Amino acid sequence: MLTLGIETSCDETSCAVLKGQDTLLSNIVSSSLFRHKKFGGVVPEIASRHSMEQIQCVFEEALHEAKIKAKDLDLIAVTQGPGLIGSLFVGVAFAKALAYQLGIPLIGVNHMEAHLVANFFGSPEPKRYIGLLVSGGHTMLTYCEKGKIHVMGETVDDAVGEAYDKVAKILGLGYPGGPIIDQLAKTGNPRSVLFTRPKQDRRFDFSFSGVKTAVLYLLQDFKTGKPKADAPSKKDIAASFQHAVIGWLVEKAIDACEFKKVSDIVVGGGVSANSYLREKLTRDAAAQGIKVWFPPFALSTDNAAMIARRGYELYKKGKWSKLNMTGEPALMIQ
Ligand code: KG4
Ligand code: ZN
Repeated sequence: MLTLGIETSCDETSCAVLKGQDTLLSNIVSSSLFRHKKFGGVVPEIASRHSMEQIQCVFEEALHEAKIKAKDLDLIAVTQGPGLIGSLFVGVAFAKALAYQLGIPLIGVNHMEAHLVANFFGSPEPKRYIGLLVSGGHTMLTYCEKGKIHVMGETVDDAVGEAYDKVAKILGLGYPGGPIIDQLAKTGNPRSVLFTRPKQDRRFDFSFSGVKTAVLYLLQDFKTGKPKADAPSKKDIAASFQHAVIGWLVEKAIDACEFKKVSDIVVGGGVSANSYLREKLTRDAAAQGIKVWFPPFALSTDNAAMIARRGYELYKKGKWSKLNMTGEPALMIQ
């Protein structure tokens, strides 16, 4: 059984061919990142135009690398949401036309659910686990049992990846901020600035907009907006920021595990590539007898392999989509 995965929810255009459940024959990703850099963030119109230009050749490249023809495909899985509306529409329209032309089933996939299953290529999914989803648009704690995903808590404002990107922008470090801060933080003192932990009404919710504002006021005067002469260095701010936000994520993920009495944490989303998160969560969780799963680096950020994998799982459960399915920017976890 051959599944084509299509991902166009944000600034990546990706197609992958999956054989059965685990054998990835190709996973081609074309990023429009270089086009957004000068704006310090993703410009939706540029992202969707890039996907429109790229989708056909990314698809052909994915077939070529998998050494198959379009007529060999048995199933098409496409990101239905959440994401940028224009970008989603490109992938969904392409997928629908192809499914119709080839006469094969189509499955709309939730991008966040797919980030979790990026961990399970070649390793069976634990029966029960806590999912920590950390991307540019979302931050969530989920409880997963027998393939069903329940949201336990989420961010009430910025996503953690967004906080990385905004802090990097304030520090004038470039875009995307996550990998840049990850590297710079290695050279700074994580205890040079103490950021206040946000208070949440709900135990498993997060908030990241306060820390971003706190970084701004480290660099400039609150009233006049003028630069401060005694501001800490960028590397110390980066290290302290990372120490704070990753600390909050790790604590809540372990707390959620203890609350639900499970012994696995599965991490997904672009921030799962973060070296400090990988190190600290693995260490702190091991001390409590908890195993942590991280996706391979290539599958941490957006890719179509995870969409194909999730689509295949849904297909096995008979959850096919109709051809009038459409992109849903605010699609929730069901
Ligand atoms: O999942 P993803 O590729 O796209 C969305 O679905 O949003 O996540 C992108 C986010 C960006 O905010 C980026 O800065 C962040 O992931 N990111 C990182 C790292 N690599 C990517 N954040 C922290 N450390 C990293 N190494
Ligand atoms: Zn993502």
